[in-house]
Amino acid sequence: MRAVKVADNIWWVGAVDWDTRNFHGYSTSRGSTYNAYLIVDDKITLIDTVKAPFFPEMMARIAEIVDPAKIDIVISNHVEMDHSGALPLLMEKIPNAPVYTSPQGEKGLRAHYRKDWDFRVVKTGDALRTGRYSFSFVSTPMVHWPDNMLTYCPEAKILFSNDAFGEHLASAERFADEAALGIVEEEAAKYYANIVMPYGAQTQKALAGAGGLDIELIAPSHGLIWRRDIETIIGWYQKWSADRPENKAVVVYDSMWHSTEAMALRVGDALEHAGVPARMCNLKTTHISDIMTGVLMSRFVFVGSPTLNNGIMPTVAQFLTYLAGLAPKNRVGFAFGSYGWGGQSVGIIDKILRDAGMEVLDSVRLQYIPDEEQLRSLSEHVQKGLRPFLGANG
Ligand code: FEO
Repeated sequence: MRAVKVADNIWWVGAVDWDTRNFHGYSTSRGSTYNAYLIVDDKITLIDTVKAPFFPEMMARIAEIVDPAKIDIVISNHVEMDHSGALPLLMEKIPNAPVYTSPQGEKGLRAHYRKDWDFRVVKTGDALRTGRYSFSFVSTPMVHWPDNMLTYCPEAKILFSNDAFGEHLASAERFADEAALGIVEEEAAKYYANIVMPYGAQTQKALAGAGGLDIELIAPSHGLIWRRDIETIIGWYQKWSADRPENKAVVVYDSMWHSTEAMALRVGDALEHAGVPARMCNLKTTHISDIMTGVLMSRFVFVGSPTLNNGIMPTVAQFLTYLAGLAPKNRVGFAFGSYGWGGQSVGIIDKILRDAGMEVLDSVRLQYIPDEEQLRSLSEHVQKGLRPFLGANG
């Protein structure tokens, strides 16, 4: 349990959660980390804590550098319990330490822990000097809770970005340049898609706010620390938060007797013919949080379900509920499915996609087992529907 030096007298003292596989519905297949940072200065400061069960791990790392009872100041960038869960236990050791947090942070921490700590409420532009280092605060509401803020250290040129720029990724490496960039990008995209996507406009605002800062190192609260090529992660966030997805597609479906599956495969084929790369997402085998990574990259979100009990399959309902909550912008939808007699599924999917703000192609339903002629017609329908969105070359 070693602390890891991030900069002169600045240490990573967080925890690695190798085991977590479900972060309230998000499939964290590579685990996660909860990053806390210790700054040893005239005043010793801790930025954020860890999930409560990892308190001993954090304390062991802090103790490697200083006696935890000597911590003078705590900065809480975010109330959510993966970062504040260990705070009550820590505050038992340092009950008089001031806790710097945003106005919503104070409200949230009080509501969570019912403690009357020495809260010091800070807003954008406020600063704190601890000795050779100082820390200024940038409020970033709704990226992704009302309380979120960033902490910036101008002397070390470090942005402590909390949830922003992070990944759910357990690893022995602490720095992004030590890890495989493809995995980092995949996990950062998945994190953005599943946590931050509803708040693209707020993220753009936060990026603009951070844009004036001279940043050499980004230290998020999950995953890897960026000490090189920070424009890589900032560029990813600029692209994702712009809500201008590429002409790619996800085809999301479930099937009872392979008829909707046959339709999905033909829809995927039609997309390929139209020059639109399509990711096939069978809900029996693909987790909804992985599908959202595809949705982040894709302008076209096509969803199929057979009619089951006058409705849609539960797996499809689960995906659509999750999709609507994450509210991707500027997407084009399409509903399809097979049926026996009622045939309600496509109408239900179509309405959910429209209510989520998507433009939607005319839906297609086919009875029982589709024959080749019907599938060919489905393919032509999809290709024709795509043309207005793909321009002259589509
Ligand atoms: Fe990583 Fe919003 O907590």
